Amino acid sequence: MTVTAVPNLTVRDFAPADEDAVRQLITAAFPSDREARLVHTLRHCGALVLEQVAVDESGRIVGHVAYSRVTPAAIGRGQAMQIACLAPVSVWPELQHKGVGTTLTRNSLEKLKECGEELVLVLGPPAYFPRFGFDAELAKKIQGPYAGGAFMALALSEDCLRDLPIEVAFATPFEDFE
Ligand SMILES: CC(C)(COP(=O)(O)OP(=O)(O)OC[C@H]1O[C@@H](n2cnc3c(N)ncnc32)[C@H](O)[C@@H]1OP(=O)(O)O)[C@@H](O)C(=O)NCCC(=O)NCCS
Repeated sequence: MTVTAVPNLTVRDFAPADEDAVRQLITAAFPSDREARLVHTLRHCGALVLEQVAVDESGRIVGHVAYSRVTPAAIGRGQAMQIACLAPVSVWPELQHKGVGTTLTRNSLEKLKECGEELVLVLGPPAYFPRFGFDAELAKKIQGPYAGGAFMALALSEDCLRDLPIEVAFATPFEDFE
């Protein structure tokens, strides 16, 4: 695990009892509560593939990440591909830039790979996500509602690359997320 400036940081799966703390954290990390509401909706419509939290030595939740199901086009190559969307990742503001986001993202990507996910998509800062291997060039082979430099993809399996390009649909709550 990456060394962080937050002592004894651990990463674990989200538990239902974390719901309030996670909502407060996401709301604090972003300018409004839109992202917190998005996560809530994704969670309660069963669209989340993985949700993890980073916890400090006192047990406080200091980071959160959510991955939702992305559906390949119903016909053609790659229709069985396991694809997830990383959105959002949040770190409590006063603890940002201390390695929490890096540890949480790396850990969760490893878990996704263990779970058989093959491709991960993200719409986020182009200065941040390439450090995990996310690539805007690769994302050009993913056809869907998003494009541009902030739209990046990470292959967790070499095999999935031969099934690209592919058309995908994101979980329905993203349609209301402008
Ligand atoms: C983005 C975020 C999750 C990163 O977590 P973090 O714990 O602060 O990041 P880390 O300490 O692991 O990494 C710090 C590095 O990320 C960079 N970084 C942090 N936030 C960034 C951002 N929004 N854009 C570009 N780079 C960013 C820092 O410059 C630093 O770079 P360096 O290692 O080259 O010095 C966190 O800052 C956050 O919650 N931001 C608000 C919510 C958000 O914008 N989420 C991303 C979109 S889903």
